[in-house]
Amino acid sequence: MAIKFELLKESKDSMARLGKITTPHGEIETPIFMPVGTRGTVKAMTPEEVKILGAQIILANTYHLYLKPGHELISEAGGLHKFMNWDYPILTDSGGFQVFSLSDLRKISEEGVEFRSHIDGSKHFIGPEKSMEIQNALGSDIMMCFDECTPYPSSYEYSKQSMEMTTRWAKRCKEYHKNTDKQGLFGIVQGGMFKDLREQSARDLVEMDFPGYAVGGLSVGEPKDLMCDLLEFTTPLLPKNKPRYLMGVGTPDYLFEAVIRGIDMADCVLPTRLARNGTVLTSRGKLVIRNAKYAKDFSKLDPECDCYACTNYSRAYIRHLFNVGEILGARLTTIHNLYFLIKLMENIREAIKEDRLLEYKEEFYKKYGYI
Ligand code: GUN
Ligand code: ZN
Repeated sequence: MAIKFELLKESKDSMARLGKITTPHGEIETPIFMPVGTRGTVKAMTPEEVKILGAQIILANTYHLYLKPGHELISEAGGLHKFMNWDYPILTDSGGFQVFSLSDLRKISEEGVEFRSHIDGSKHFIGPEKSMEIQNALGSDIMMCFDECTPYPSSYEYSKQSMEMTTRWAKRCKEYHKNTDKQGLFGIVQGGMFKDLREQSARDLVEMDFPGYAVGGLSVGEPKDLMCDLLEFTTPLLPKNKPRYLMGVGTPDYLFEAVIRGIDMADCVLPTRLARNGTVLTSRGKLVIRNAKYAKDFSKLDPECDCYACTNYSRAYIRHLFNVGEILGARLTTIHNLYFLIKLMENIREAIKEDRLLEYKEEFYKKYGYI
């Protein structure tokens, strides 16, 4: 088996857990935040820099790498780890989200999804088997089942049909995927905003015995309370001794809420995307670096941060870089934002270890400015 999970501790005052995932490319301490490297690069960073920031696993996307440069080429290069020079764990999403959110003119059927590339309009098809073939060629440590992320809002009837198809697709994924000693395949719970559908989805997937499970179809525009409620309902339906991954979540408050509800892994483009737009996450909340008030502010981005950017550069300098369009600006804010979330998860793990996660959350929220 490619993926081993050790549950090291369960919190007394919440559903939070500490764990360790072992993969063919090394170990991951959980709960963990996974930086996103959609096209085989965490934007603006070298893999060495990503590692120095403390990342233990990164995410890449089947949909993008299939379109460019193509999975056969990456296979020829010796797999994605070798191609991009990242010798640590990689998780690939299945394409079952990007194909719905990015491609044009999609036609969904039981077979899979026919679509036109968002890059050049060319026609393609990805179904469960194709997604497995691509992820096998990429050689990621953790693969995801091909699924439909039910849009929000969706009717009960649509959510039910969609979830049942995702379950049938998961069966086909599992049947196709043979490389189980090098790559672990995770199931994805869907079911929209309906508890009975999520329960059915979780039950059917758990029966298939995947080495890990994701909760998909959340953080798609629904209110935060509803997401929290559905998550709290869903995680107890998943086996304790397998990792649980909440897909597409990465703001500091959602990370706390997810961990408190028993989530071990999360990913989000937010920190890197915000960084390139000049928005910086700090212990006192978000900061828009282009703002005129930072023109002569020679302090660091976050007074509490000891990342490379904060150790060496001022707000005024980074603002200047953004204002004149120098790429170093985006590199420095990316370094900082990634470090901020990686460090936050490290602090969260420490707090779980010491049974003070809820206190730490209160303290963090008060300073960050959440109510
Ligand atoms: N990323 C964020 N949400 C989802 C989801 O529901 N499914 C997949 N495959 N990826 C996601
Ligand atoms: Zn910093």
